[in-house]
Amino acid sequence: MKYESVRGMRDILPGEIGYWKQVEEKVRGVATCFCYREIRLPLMEHTELFSRGIGEETDVVNKEMYTFLDKKNRSLTLRPEATASVARAYLEHGLHVREPFQKLFYIGPMFRYEKPQKGRSRQFHQYGVEAIGSLDPALDADVISFAWTLMDMLGLSGLSLRLNSIGCAEDRQRYRKALAGYFAAHIDEMCTDCRRRYDSNPLRILDCKESHCQLYIQQAPASIDYLCADCDRHFVEVRGYLDKLGLNYGIDARLIRGLDYYTRTVFELISKDLGAQDALLGGGRYDGLVQLLGGPATPAVGFAGGMERLILVLQKKNRSFGREERLDLFLAALGEEGRLLAVTLAQSLRSQGISVDLDYRGRSLRKQLGYADQIEARYLIVLGEDELGSKQGRIKNMDKREEYEISLTADAIAHIVHGSKHGD
Ligand code: HAM
Repeated sequence: MKYESVRGMRDILPGEIGYWKQVEEKVRGVATCFCYREIRLPLMEHTELFSRGIGEETDVVNKEMYTFLDKKNRSLTLRPEATASVARAYLEHGLHVREPFQKLFYIGPMFRYEKPQKGRSRQFHQYGVEAIGSLDPALDADVISFAWTLMDMLGLSGLSLRLNSIGCAEDRQRYRKALAGYFAAHIDEMCTDCRRRYDSNPLRILDCKESHCQLYIQQAPASIDYLCADCDRHFVEVRGYLDKLGLNYGIDARLIRGLDYYTRTVFELISKDLGAQDALLGGGRYDGLVQLLGGPATPAVGFAGGMERLILVLQKKNRSFGREERLDLFLAALGEEGRLLAVTLAQSLRSQGISVDLDYRGRSLRKQLGYADQIEARYLIVLGEDELGSKQGRIKNMDKREEYEISLTADAIAHIVHGSKHGD
């Protein structure tokens, strides 16, 4: 039997890790600048957290969750997203009691049983931010600014932000009615999913990707025409901040997002380079979620982005990105004694933070030198008979193709390698 990874779940191989590390580093850096603190959450939750929090009628809950019974017959689900978990943790640990306003971020794997394709997998990774405890429209702009700042830092351009407001629960009730009225005339022509959604929640019809249904969806009423005075003012103010900050956006009247917890502001950042799965990230306000999960009325706003999609775009656009770290020093050894010296030197240099490698396959000197070239080691030292006798050797700077005389002690070698690493 040949073992393969589970469909839609893939290995991230060493050659790609450079991208992942750099993206993670940038997310952490921007999070620090915007004062978000990291939270690490379990991969599994009680199923009810998601079915209540995200909504029974959403595709995520209805079709895409990895749900199973544990040995005590409790229904558990691999997390399809992290916003509901953050809200649960916020309540469970009484974060709201100590300090009701919290800015939190996370990075980690999520699971959705979707049809795998470019930019869409069943295990994928999200980075996300959640700002809980304020209704200030400046906070909506802050979260959107986080997204744009991250894209800037990664050197990505040519992206567009879609923005909309879906109002409060009462506005959505009115909007839902308007949609039901509009779709009544078309629903018989639409797909079976849409017909089911028509009965359960007509708002979810707007999630349908079927091209035939899209014809009707494009003409459907717009949510911003059903906003109450407060929600309308909020949206005007959010746009005012975005304009002041010079952050581009376009209003997308049909953007309602696929999760039920959203209220007011919703947005997605789109890249043309992604094809059908074009959302680099998505988010919005969820002013009712914390209360829905049993807490006090607590407004909140956040977003999450897919790491795989971001890396796909980076690989296409920013070629200098994601290089693996280079080896500092390769020790090419000849004979038993040369090898012994290489092993001991490697040990003390590594403990000084220098990356060192040597040959473990009994290769000839010529092959060892070829290998050092191939992996683009920064320095090379040959440990042959002459060097062993005199305790003097030569260290080669592989970029400059220059050699220097050196005494073969860890301190002398470290001095050169460290010195050049710090820009001497
Ligand atoms: P979402 O739109 O479901 O929102 O997912 C956010 C992002 O995760 C998407 O824009 C996409 O980049 C990525 N993503 C989603 N599904 C997949 C998949 N199957 N394969 C690869 N990437 C995927 C949420 O999850 C909300 N929790 C975001 C949020 C946070 N809203 C408020 N706070």
